Amino acid sequence: MSKTNNALNIGLITGGGDCPGLNNAIAGLIKASLPDNRVIGFYRSWNGLIENQFIPMDASMIDEISHQGGTILKSAKSFPLNSQDKLDNITKTIKEHALDVLVIIGGDSTLYVAKQIHEKLGIPIMGIPKTIDNDIPHNDFSIGFVSAVETVCQSIEQVKTSAKSHSRAMVIEVMGRHTGHLTAYAGLASNCDIILVPEHPVRLDQLKQNILKRFEGQKKYLLIAVAEGAILLDENDKPIQIFEQDESFKGMSAKGGIRYGGIADYISDWMNDFVDWDARSLVLGHLQRGGAASAMDRILAFSLAAKAAELIKQKQFNQILGFKQGNIIHTSFDEVFADNQEQQKTLPEEFYQLCILNTD
Ligand code: F6P
Repeated sequence: MSKTNNALNIGLITGGGDCPGLNNAIAGLIKASLPDNRVIGFYRSWNGLIENQFIPMDASMIDEISHQGGTILKSAKSFPLNSQDKLDNITKTIKEHALDVLVIIGGDSTLYVAKQIHEKLGIPIMGIPKTIDNDIPHNDFSIGFVSAVETVCQSIEQVKTSAKSHSRAMVIEVMGRHTGHLTAYAGLASNCDIILVPEHPVRLDQLKQNILKRFEGQKKYLLIAVAEGAILLDENDKPIQIFEQDESFKGMSAKGGIRYGGIADYISDWMNDFVDWDARSLVLGHLQRGGAASAMDRILAFSLAAKAAELIKQKQFNQILGFKQGNIIHTSFDEVFADNQEQQKTLPEEFYQLCILNTD
């Protein structure tokens, strides 16, 4: 595509794990960019740029996608940095479409890859934060988080009635590899008895005491919300290995990638040895990322993307949008990734304290 006027050509991808609100961010970018600028969507994260798989975005799409979960651009965990061929193909696609800027709707890993693509290829970038993990720094709430909290909370409420009927312990495994925002918010909202997050490793003997104390009380059921990446320690304070590193998952992020899973099964099996009641596990899995966004998430996604479009018009590039203390803000990629590595925002200590009120 050649340039006919001063219009900027904006390339758009959605990368990493999907979540509710991606289509609302796409809609926001289209609405706030057209007709002055053009938006070209590329499919399946960086793969679309590598393979030149694209779709010109137009205003008629907005109404179609605003109530849809997932992403019409598809997503993937794609890591193009270790292949010169892939980087060359991205350069070719950028030239072919005369792209002035790439907008990346992604999580921590995808945004960090974007920074390196910018450094290697020179293309200006804009980042829009999304992840149900809510672990992107300089950002109170990322796209998808609020909707996922609702989904997890409703799921726990749903299983609570069954736990009550059978006087059972239910151990519910929630997504969150390195941080426990989702587990803590949903666990607190659904009044879980015990909330386990990666930020606070717990010794099994202490957890056992805590569980037994609860079984002595009047409440004849127990709910444990555990983040998939929570850390259990043995009596020597050594982390217990719950799952094996999945080799096929390596290379999916700058850190090598680990596929999590199994901690709820581990805890419920372990509990069945010392509690009289049944302990069962429930892995919520990808349903946490599914479905349409809540109204507030739609507005957040739309506003972040509209702000990105405004900054692009002002040619203020290389910024990651964010929502902080009620305001849409932007922070440079350099500041967010100041340590030149992926960065995770952890659960604030004050929030964790709410989760463990009266549990000792
Ligand atoms: O990063 C978001 C996330 O939902 C994590 O919490 C989870 O571990 C991971 O994605 C799972 O991703 P997938 O199974 O799609 O590779």
